[in-house]
Amino acid sequence: MNLSAQQGDITKITTDGIIVSLCEEAERNGVPTSALVQVDKLLSGAISALLDNRAMKGKAREVVVVPTLGKLPSRMVAVCGLGRTGQVTSDSVRDAAAEGARALRKMGCKSIATPLLGTGAEGIEVGESARAITEGILLGLYEFTKYKASETTEVEDVTILTTPEVRLDAVSTSVDEGIVLSESTCLARDMGNEPSNYMTPTRMAEMSLDLASKYGLAASVIERDEMETLGMGALLAVARGSAEPPKFIKLSHSRGSVGTAHMALVGKGITFDSGGISIKPSEGMSDMKGDMAGGASVIAAMCAIARMGLNTNVTGLIPATENLPGGKAFKPGDIIRAMNGKSIEIISTDAEGRLALADALSYANKNGMSPLIDIATLTGACKVALGSLYSGVFSNDEALVGRFMDASVRAGEKMWRMPLPEEYKEMNSSPVADVKNVGNRYGGAITAALFVGEFAGGTPWIHVDIAGTGDTTKDGGATVKGATGVPVRTLYELVKGAS
Ligand code: BES
Ligand code: ZN
Ligand code: ZN
Repeated sequence: MNLSAQQGDITKITTDGIIVSLCEEAERNGVPTSALVQVDKLLSGAISALLDNRAMKGKAREVVVVPTLGKLPSRMVAVCGLGRTGQVTSDSVRDAAAEGARALRKMGCKSIATPLLGTGAEGIEVGESARAITEGILLGLYEFTKYKASETTEVEDVTILTTPEVRLDAVSTSVDEGIVLSESTCLARDMGNEPSNYMTPTRMAEMSLDLASKYGLAASVIERDEMETLGMGALLAVARGSAEPPKFIKLSHSRGSVGTAHMALVGKGITFDSGGISIKPSEGMSDMKGDMAGGASVIAAMCAIARMGLNTNVTGLIPATENLPGGKAFKPGDIIRAMNGKSIEIISTDAEGRLALADALSYANKNGMSPLIDIATLTGACKVALGSLYSGVFSNDEALVGRFMDASVRAGEKMWRMPLPEEYKEMNSSPVADVKNVGNRYGGAITAALFVGEFAGGTPWIHVDIAGTGDTTKDGGATVKGATGVPVRTLYELVKGAS
């Protein structure tokens, strides 16, 4: 798809569809944008009629498509809601653009134009709007169609129109950043949506090496032999039940000043989680092809960081393996040893993500990386606690987590900080080993985070549980059914803020 910004008039451009936006109660207390007023006028008041007849209110994510009947050069107009006047954010603009673009695609539109949305009085900056529109359109139109033969309409051209008072170069810079972030998010989505017979640890490693050479990252892959030498007994234990070899993927971007610490982004890369010997029920097991979403988000964020040339040092680490119940599989009751020397009693082989993270964090610590950020589809308990909108955030460092939460707001990815109480640590204590891999019945997301924290040691660390947010069952705004690509954009914003 071609997407670019140019100066022009929304009422004069010839495209299949155009997008306009309005706020709730716009007619009473809002200042309608000039694009809306002009389009409404040319349509003989059709948009006003929508409001008058309560066919539309202007709520966030609301969209109504109106045919122009030849009154404008474009065939269709998508009228999109931005929510309450004065409360417009880049999130509402991103979602409006996504809903508008999806609605127009459904009507067979192959080319779309939109003015800057939400920039009126009490609105957002023009650059912010341009980036949000770009992201909304690219993320909202995303589809995973690789294995389907049926033909669908594809939007080929998108034009963001600016007015003469707006500096086009500033808008274009924001559009370019939006394109990189959307493509990176869609890369993480593609990886998560691939079935596990394709997205094996080997394929993740191959893709990482290809992407690294394309975007100028340093990359290497630690194979099983070297894992053994390094003492990665936790990751190796998980890998034992599968015929697919495990891979420990490393991607580095080194553009920070010499001597400054390397941030580590660690992503859980379980390409299929059957539960192992502690096997999962078959219903819903297929969703566990997405148990590498954390790893995919790290690979994709590293690509975005490299493409935007951020001036900082970051390394992505992805411990990748399947978790299967083969004849050599690890078993409940086994005692294993992680790379940092800690022994772990296995209670459930289904609590495998924390084992993979244990070795990856030990590796990052041993190599002097700081701070440590890990992303994982770690616990069903986090999904129960926060649902599918908010990722759970755990940290041992107030300043770092503050920066992370701010980054998530800028990115438009919802996060909620969870506690890490010392008192719960005893739930992970084992009579036979230093720690056990499952706590007890309650507070499962927290005890999992506390377990992972044992391997972060005293290094500033954040753990993000995306079990609820890594994929979704329905389209809504810029999010579409399937893998979400969360939290690629937050990771990018965090690193950008530190550069
Ligand atoms: N990959 C799962 C967690 C998960 C659940 C991710 C639902 C996405 C959606 C993880 O490896 C797991 O199985 N966790 C167990 C832990 C339990 C055995 C302590 C869980 O949450 O049930
Ligand atoms: Zn599991
Ligand atoms: Zn898992």
